[in-house]
Amino acid sequence: MRYLTAGESHGPQLTAIVEGVPSGLNLTAEAINIDLARRQKGYGRGRRMQIEKDQVQILGGVRHGKALGSPISLVVENNDWKHWTKIMGAEPISMEEEKEVKRQITRPRPGHADLVGAMKYGHRDMRNVLERSSARETTVRVAVGALAKQILAELNIKVVGHVLEIGGVRAENTDYDNIDDLLAVTEESPVRCYDREAESKMMEAIDNAKSNGDSIGGVVEVVVEGLPAGIGSYVHYDRKLDSKIAGAIVSINAFKGVEFGIGFEAARKFGSQVHDEIIWSEEGGYTRKTNRLGGFEGGMTTGMPVVVRGVMKPIPTLYKPLQSVDIETKEPFTASIERSDSCAVPAASVVAEAVVAWEIANAIVEQFGIDRMDLIKENVEAMRKHTRDF
Ligand SMILES: Cc1cc2nc3c(=O)[nH]c(=O)nc-3n(C[C@H](O)[C@H](O)[C@H](O)COP(=O)(O)O)c2cc1C
Repeated sequence: MRYLTAGESHGPQLTAIVEGVPSGLNLTAEAINIDLARRQKGYGRGRRMQIEKDQVQILGGVRHGKALGSPISLVVENNDWKHWTKIMGAEPISMEEEKEVKRQITRPRPGHADLVGAMKYGHRDMRNVLERSSARETTVRVAVGALAKQILAELNIKVVGHVLEIGGVRAENTDYDNIDDLLAVTEESPVRCYDREAESKMMEAIDNAKSNGDSIGGVVEVVVEGLPAGIGSYVHYDRKLDSKIAGAIVSINAFKGVEFGIGFEAARKFGSQVHDEIIWSEEGGYTRKTNRLGGFEGGMTTGMPVVVRGVMKPIPTLYKPLQSVDIETKEPFTASIERSDSCAVPAASVVAEAVVAWEIANAIVEQFGIDRMDLIKENVEAMRKHTRDF
């Protein structure tokens, strides 16, 4: 499968074309809208999230609730567009209109794509960069991820993203019973955190950052359960599924690092404290005593839960701005404000869930049948049986 997205933050709509979705997949706008709403929630979001109430329209590739196998077109309209028709319209405008409406941006924010994007594409108005580099685009990536989650749900594979750390406050209690418990608790949390004590400290940290005109980042984790062993492959660099997931996490706006299982902690441990010992039982087949490697060996799923974490830097747009340089006057100034969140880590955990779901669903479709959901189901079941009986 593959997809492309198009659309600007204040343009009329965001669009995704998703190609290669197996026919027979159950897909409704309602299922996608649940995840769009989850992305919009979260303590620390700015006013934009109150303006938008994201709803997807499925405009191609699905008939009577089932995917046809043809490209699927997903559209999310921007409610704010009505205020931006002149500034962001596609049609040429006259010189007079230009003066009136353009609101040219010449002051790049450190840490955003503004300056390098403008230099690269030759834009004197940095709105031409920020409209697309904005994380508003993650809305349709979440819609595509929701579609991927539908594929996984039909194969009894569950994916949950949650927050482990915000602004230096870490969740200490992450001892959830199972993935359903993790989902149920974090769904009720304003910061999508399992640990209730850490939750209130995280909200305090967000309030403090906000009142200082500053922003804070954090760490999100995605857990995937129900995977058969052997998805992905060790045979080539570009077939290693952990590498694809790592790339997907770092592709999310503001994500700077990724780790699986105990991750960077492995650098400080002996091999005997890192590798997961193999056990076997009649009913469960091969499994592991621990899951320190986060569900991967040799770029393939082991059958243990996939556990992947990503680190999000603090948001670059600050109400207490950093020094920058106006590209017209070359004079120093303190960087300008576009409407901004002070912390988007909770929302980013939903985006991370979506991109991980996509990579896993894509690998499964490629490996287990490609065109038809019913065949993919049969083949995944056959693989589960084969690895159990091996
Ligand atoms: C869900 C989400 C919301 C975000 N909201 C904002 C925001 O309101 N203001 C901002 O400056 N950056 C925001 N960002 C981060 C920027 O989009 C990101 O820093 C920018 O695109 C530059 O890319 P880079 O940080 O990956 O280098 C957000 C990121 C995510 C994932």
